[in-house]
Amino acid sequence: MNDFKNSCLNECLFVILGGTGDLAKRKLIPAIYKLSEENKLCKFSVVLVSNLQTNVSQIFEQAQPFITKVNDGLWQKIQDKTRYFKMDFNDSREYAELETLLKKVEAEDHLAGNRIFYFATMPEHFDVISRNFANNKIVSDKNKADACCKSPWSRLVYEKPFGFDLASAKNINKYITQIFEERQIYRIDHYLGKELVGNIALVRFTNQVFEPLWNNKNIDSISINIFEDFGVGARGAFYDTYGAVKDMVQSHMLQILALVAMETPKKLSADFIRDAKANVLNQVEIEKVVLGQYDGYLQEKDVKPNSKTETFAMLKVKVNNKRWDGVTFYLKTGKYLSKREAFVEITFKRVTCLLDYCPSKPNSLIIKINPDQGFYLGLNVKTPGVSNHVTPVSMDFCHTGMFGPNTPEAYEILLSDVIKGDQSAFVRSDEVEFSWKILENINTKRTSVYVYKKGSSGPVEQKE
Ligand code: BG6
Repeated sequence: MNDFKNSCLNECLFVILGGTGDLAKRKLIPAIYKLSEENKLCKFSVVLVSNLQTNVSQIFEQAQPFITKVNDGLWQKIQDKTRYFKMDFNDSREYAELETLLKKVEAEDHLAGNRIFYFATMPEHFDVISRNFANNKIVSDKNKADACCKSPWSRLVYEKPFGFDLASAKNINKYITQIFEERQIYRIDHYLGKELVGNIALVRFTNQVFEPLWNNKNIDSISINIFEDFGVGARGAFYDTYGAVKDMVQSHMLQILALVAMETPKKLSADFIRDAKANVLNQVEIEKVVLGQYDGYLQEKDVKPNSKTETFAMLKVKVNNKRWDGVTFYLKTGKYLSKREAFVEITFKRVTCLLDYCPSKPNSLIIKINPDQGFYLGLNVKTPGVSNHVTPVSMDFCHTGMFGPNTPEAYEILLSDVIKGDQSAFVRSDEVEFSWKILENINTKRTSVYVYKKGSSGPVEQKE
């Protein structure tokens, strides 16, 4: 999983559907640039596809601010390898023209035919695009043995959210697996490409000091937090349709929960990890939900004036198995909160107190994901000079301090995994469906959507 040391990855053609969107500009084009700057890509070209009247240089101009320190020569070289294709995804006649362009690019740029199709579109387009790809033989044929693995291969990356609810996710899964091999399908959740999220399973299963304690005998509660100190920005239309639960909880937060709570996989390899994650997701049940909306959300661009969409969610959930019986999991996320921070906090049970003055805090392990990366272990030590008193202290491991500031961005890691054909950090169809299933009965557990002040810690009603 995430072996980033390979010096040069297989050659390929990146086809970004939704090539003028926020994701392409903020993450995908910068990730391709970075991979190229670090000489990770042997040979590649890019085709950006969207329905807007625009061109490559306009798109690159908008993407450039999302890269720190651009090398002008390299930036221009990547622009020269990029084509733009304007098309209406719903017009089946235009797919033949797309295929003609892809073949032309492959011939002109001497590429062997490996293709990555990145669906950076809304999920409602997944169906129509996938079908037309199959009909126009744009993606290698499912029946061809090893369509996903032997060169030339085609791989399809589906951005989250994968569907809108359980029924739509099932539908998408059903038709894409009829046309493509599961081994060609990469359901992306960029949190799985984050260095410290990738670390969760490794730290758990390679340190004897953690795994034996990882159960309800020793752990009191686990909270998974993704706080943001900004609003919906230019993504009002998307966000207002989805909201915090579908945007963040269904994917990022439940994936982190799965990694934290899964049983020991037989091996730390793609299928075993995904089996273990799917098993635990199938055992999650919501107990309580508090939703909030930041003050001023209704004035955001493309948001409905009377919208009830939540920008904050706090879920209390349980995992119905022997290991986690009695342990509460809190999932908390929101926009325009007081700080930007993503972390997992594992709070251990208090020890039986043998002193006159007992520790004020139970032990805790904090896995810091964003913006600081590392681990923090909260311990109690003797207060200097005072017998029988303890003081809480921390052992703080700063990932950047140890390994340097240049760990690759999540999208760089995940794109290189796709090129290598490594699916460990991608979500399997059953995991997606179990995650949507967890949220099915959310309406019976929720109350109203409470307004909260920007820069606060969310609605006051979240307090138990
Ligand atoms: C995206 C959500 O998946 O993740 C955004 O759509 C959110 O709403 C983003 O802001 C958070 O990702 P990161 O990597 O910036 O923490």
